[in-house]
Amino acid sequence: MSFDLIVRGGTLTDGRVADIGISGGRIAAIEAKLDAEAGEVIDAAGDLVAPPFVDPHFHMDATLSYGTPRINASGTLLEGIGLWGELKPLLTHEAVKERALAYCDWAVSMGLLAIRTHVDTCDDRLLAVEALLDVRKTVAPYLDLQLVAFPQDGFYRDPTARENTIRALDMGVDVVGGIPHFERTMEDGRRSVTELCEIAAERGLRVDMHCDETDDPLSRHIEQLACETQRLGLHGRVNGSHLTSMHSMDNYYVSKLLPLMAEAEVSAVPNPLINIVLQGRHDSYPKRRGMTRVPEMLKAGIRVGFGQDCVLDPWYSLGTADMLDVAFMGLHVAQMTSPADMRRCFDMVTTENAAIMGLEGYGLEVGNVASLVVLDAGNPIEALRLRPNRLCVVSKGKIVSRKQRNDSRLTIDGRPSSVRRRHTAS
Ligand code: FE2
Repeated sequence: MSFDLIVRGGTLTDGRVADIGISGGRIAAIEAKLDAEAGEVIDAAGDLVAPPFVDPHFHMDATLSYGTPRINASGTLLEGIGLWGELKPLLTHEAVKERALAYCDWAVSMGLLAIRTHVDTCDDRLLAVEALLDVRKTVAPYLDLQLVAFPQDGFYRDPTARENTIRALDMGVDVVGGIPHFERTMEDGRRSVTELCEIAAERGLRVDMHCDETDDPLSRHIEQLACETQRLGLHGRVNGSHLTSMHSMDNYYVSKLLPLMAEAEVSAVPNPLINIVLQGRHDSYPKRRGMTRVPEMLKAGIRVGFGQDCVLDPWYSLGTADMLDVAFMGLHVAQMTSPADMRRCFDMVTTENAAIMGLEGYGLEVGNVASLVVLDAGNPIEALRLRPNRLCVVSKGKIVSRKQRNDSRLTIDGRPSSVRRRHTAS
């Protein structure tokens, strides 16, 4: 028996130690010991072998534009939107493409192999849509890119957004987006949710809306989103991104809202790095942190992932394409610090995010797409603690990135890494 590639002796996320045999871009075998030849062998003994990281919420048309034409002085969402509006007329097809491809390279090196990016449709040229459609095609051999038609300036508020959003979907954008809390009135926001869900239902598409990204406890568009999901039979195909108003909502109202979301199978993607930076900016003290109610949603049976949202753009001045940074911040802000909760946070940036995006053939099972990441860590919790180097990244059966071990993390006062690992909860 022979394989194209064998990943030998790695520790899987469930703690099993196994060899993974890969042939023809698929996982052909997972066994304790594979007695077989291979074109190439990766020695993963002592290392964590995980399915690739997945980011269900990003803005690739804006990424790596930090400081152009200026920085966000107030740090608010609204100034970020205004700043992006200043930058938009200056965009060129080539510049958007170049920044997006550079970001995809970063992502691959971090083991991030699937990204759902919103693309702004409030531009009569639809220049960013065209550029990211090109990027989607270019990166397809190694990275799954989903595009969301996103009317950043409001589906009704911007005079040509409705028409341009529909044009973008006609051009091949994958998912229907929206921004109900940015419409001029609550009623316009409500109507936008209804019409956008109807468009998705007619076209057989998924929905992912920026929803209630505000500290206003009366921003309740998630309720409408869940109701429309039920009415149109879109169960399991609709996601509410951000949902930050839920942080400030009345507890009784939330106790009624969460079962509705669970029944409608609407998932949620908070973006912890961005939510705690942008929200609470109008508060004095106590200052709200703005992230939605993650443990409560999980307890209610709602699927929850974590998204990155922004890297070096008008809204966020940092970022590295590392979904472990996202999960690390998420578990702190959500206070998910028990071993079981931390383990869950690792799943949220891998398997849960993959389910939210509807990725097919994802995960380390025989027959699935052979995409995986080898991390310099002993288990998922240690990976969250260290956010270590991705030693090897395999996408669709091919090695796409390698990194050296970071020697400074391999010893503590001269002791070998095994000592360090024994002090880590598993
Ligand atoms: Fe966003």
